[in-house]
Amino acid sequence: QTVGFAASGGLDSCTITRWLTEQGVRVVCFTADMAQPDETDFRAIEERMRACGAADFVALPLHDMIAAAGIEVIQFQAKYEGAYWNTTGIGRHVIVAGMVPELRRRGIRVLAHGATGRGNDQVRFQLCTNMLAPELTVYAPWRDPAFLQQFRGRAEMIDYCLARKLPIKASKEAPYSTDANLLGLTHEAGKLEHLTTSPWFVQPGMGVLPSQGPAEPEAVTIRFVQGVPTAINGQLLSPFQAIRRANALAGRHGVGICTHVVENRFVGIKSRGVYEAPGMELLGSAYAFLLQLILDRRGRELFDPLSLFMARQIYQGYGFDLASHMARAALAPLTRLATGTITVQLYKGRVEFLAAEDVPHQLYSESNASMEAVGEFDHADSEGFVRVLQVSARALAASGQVVP
Ligand code: ARG
Ligand code: SIN
Repeated sequence: QTVGFAASGGLDSCTITRWLTEQGVRVVCFTADMAQPDETDFRAIEERMRACGAADFVALPLHDMIAAAGIEVIQFQAKYEGAYWNTTGIGRHVIVAGMVPELRRRGIRVLAHGATGRGNDQVRFQLCTNMLAPELTVYAPWRDPAFLQQFRGRAEMIDYCLARKLPIKASKEAPYSTDANLLGLTHEAGKLEHLTTSPWFVQPGMGVLPSQGPAEPEAVTIRFVQGVPTAINGQLLSPFQAIRRANALAGRHGVGICTHVVENRFVGIKSRGVYEAPGMELLGSAYAFLLQLILDRRGRELFDPLSLFMARQIYQGYGFDLASHMARAALAPLTRLATGTITVQLYKGRVEFLAAEDVPHQLYSESNASMEAVGEFDHADSEGFVRVLQVSARALAASGQVVP
């Protein structure tokens, strides 16, 4: 029996690889290279996984896929519960999409992952795999009684690995667990489980805490062409480079760092996390300003629920289903119009609007919006308009429907 194991290279990966090997399973480790800020040495991961018993190791080059996925999250403004840029949620879709063709090429029929039985990640791995490759079986040691009998938590995994002299990096003191990719870091568990613990004890991995940002604000100009960031401060960039650049610029000012939420997991429990997504926050905020120049009131009314819907879809692992496909089709006409140059300033965790230029499809018209008597909008025309509104307002009053 061979399994393809989605291994990050951390403590869980070492433990699971070794444990499965001891059960007589042939383990092929697949590690996604999604430019995770905390883990760049794939040779070191390979050595570690092989030392733990992996029969083979495959690094999946997914830079462009995670970047494209991140751009789509920005286009949808798909923040879960309005606050979390879904960096782990979308990352799971990308890992599975990257693994499936490689598993098929090798004739491997089981995808294994190290997500726990309490979280969202198990659901995302399951649904994405079942949808993209229905012939595969998904195996999760953290839901396997035989595995659970031996391991109840990190301490036992560390003891197990140390007893076998496996080259783990983790120590018993690790205060929380972090998931990482190009788009961001998500910290959960451990000390963060106590709500009496302030999020500000987290050591940022992608920049500084907002209070540690420079004393002077910094202006950043972002050019979007049809929904895609194509240049930052005049420098032409690929989507991958743009997100990287945005991470660096925004991270320095503590933007999108240590935003903390208590969120509603798909499995129905509330969990507490501390998240970092500086580039997503910078590009996403600039894009929000651009959209607001373009969308009229009814467009906005359709966009907002679409955004919330897609945020939930991604969070729950349904990013490949029909409804997500329909949502993409609904968004496309807007994205095609989303061209323009937005300047914002970064300052101690904030992204503030400075200026907009070259937005060919914007609806904002200086002369129509002006309080001065200019443009097509004649104040006197509104006399009839408000008198029409007056009829129904007075009718409400006359029929006792007004609650003072
Ligand atoms: N709660 C977040 C999510 O569901 C973050 C998960 C963090 N995962 C982790 N292995 N640290 O997307
Ligand atoms: C896990 O439980 O494996 C991580 C947290 C989550 O998936 O929500």
